[in-house]
Amino acid sequence: MELSVLLLLALLTGLLLLLARGHLKAYGCLPPGPRPLPFLGNLLQMDRSGLLKSFLRFQEKYGDVFTVYLGPRPVVMLCGIKAIREALVDQAETFSGRGKIAILEAVFQEYGVVFANGERWKTLRRFSLATMRDFGMGKWSMEKRIQEEAQCLVEELRKTQGALQDPTLFFHSMTTNVICSIVCGKRFGYRDPELLRLLDLFYQSFALISSFSSQVFELFHSFLKYFPGTHRQVYKNLQEITRFIDRVVEKHRETLDPSSPRDFIDAYLIRMDKEKADPRSEFHQRNLIYTALSLIFAGTETTSTTLRYGFLLLLKYPHITERIHKEIDQVIGPHRLPSLDDRAKMPYTDAVIHEIQRFGDLLPIGVPHMVTKDTSFRGYIIPKGTEVFPILHSALNDPHYFEKPEVFNPDRFLDANGALKKNEAFIPFSVGKRSCLGEGIARMELFLFFITILQNFSVASPVAPEDIDLTPRESGVGKVPPVYQISFLAHGGC
Ligand code: HEM
Repeated sequence: MELSVLLLLALLTGLLLLLARGHLKAYGCLPPGPRPLPFLGNLLQMDRSGLLKSFLRFQEKYGDVFTVYLGPRPVVMLCGIKAIREALVDQAETFSGRGKIAILEAVFQEYGVVFANGERWKTLRRFSLATMRDFGMGKWSMEKRIQEEAQCLVEELRKTQGALQDPTLFFHSMTTNVICSIVCGKRFGYRDPELLRLLDLFYQSFALISSFSSQVFELFHSFLKYFPGTHRQVYKNLQEITRFIDRVVEKHRETLDPSSPRDFIDAYLIRMDKEKADPRSEFHQRNLIYTALSLIFAGTETTSTTLRYGFLLLLKYPHITERIHKEIDQVIGPHRLPSLDDRAKMPYTDAVIHEIQRFGDLLPIGVPHMVTKDTSFRGYIIPKGTEVFPILHSALNDPHYFEKPEVFNPDRFLDANGALKKNEAFIPFSVGKRSCLGEGIARMELFLFFITILQNFSVASPVAPEDIDLTPRESGVGKVPPVYQISFLAHGGC
């Protein structure tokens, strides 16, 4: 080898070692973890099947709190309900920062309620919660809206006359309609081409965000962002949705009556106008568009994916479906509309929904957090700005709280008297100041949609229950169930 090449190699090695020392020193008080390489971080120690598997393996070796270098950036992982609560609840303010999901960074750029930080986030979260409450969240009118949407779905499912369907579009349409009616005052017909396009964009994007290539992008985004790949498609999809929201906002502006806001967008425009003289106001167009996008995306994909996993599980375990049908027959009967008051009288159905959420494990590695200041935690010092992943999967699958967590068993949520039994490790909506803003709506939707569908239909699969495969299609930021076919047969006949 030529001398100049040797010199260059020696120089590079020296530089890497120097950088590594500086790098490690800067984060010297972080919790332990696998030893990182400069730039590559812990790439070489990662499991090929993805981030979650790698994190669970590290948990076995380093305990519930450890540090993993995703490429060059250190991320503190919190496993198990105790560590997650100690951080997100006991030190709620400090752990309330939002970390990044690399593949979404170029789109949101810290605007909108999900990805904002600091005062911007506090303002948007407070406003979103209050306004969604004004437009029905947590109130009787929200229940009515969901009941009506469930009836629209029943009508659509009747039209299928028991033919096999991929249920994705039905569930998506229903959940989008609920959130869009709050945000934009609009519900779509199930065959509206605008709706179908939106839903396709949501569905494709969630699958792409949860794909293996997105996990690789998470590690090396500062380099990979210059090349073609999944991130460009996600960007394109979300930009198209953003343009749709832009048009909706413009229409709202043209028809706004400040004395009578119709929905979330109207309420925001009124506030924007009130604060237009304040240059520091967070009520500007960009935050409006990205908050609306966050609410519609988070509000559609999550509940719909849970329903999709839920019905796949019901096909796999027909004896469980039968018990729900019995409970519906006893408590509601075939004619009356299901209501939220029924929940207290239907502990078995409620337990099944809990178990679907636990087993479905929608956001296995949680949504990234970030510490807002230098933080002392379990004897370590986590520097301000360090990202923190609450690994929700580790709580939902902790064998100390859920015996044989790999088994789908709704009875684990029932006590000896058949009443619903709470479990502190059941945290599909996360905990603390950043916990899911739509939990109230989601819980209403899951209950009312499940029982309204099962009040009207029995379900059947072309695949024998024992052959139904529950393996997710994608498992990354989100866990996406496999594609499957189902038929909805008029209950008691067809
Ligand atoms: C089954 C349904 C759902 C599940 C499992 C779920 C779960 C979650 C989780 C785990 C987070 C992250 C919490 C954290 O950062 O620690 C989150 C955040 C969020 N969710 Fe949901 N969610 C669901 C439905 C919804 C719905 C229907 C909406 C809209 C109405 C919604 C809106 C949001 C928003 C806006 C945030 C960000 C909150 C913030 O950063 O302050 N979610 N959700």
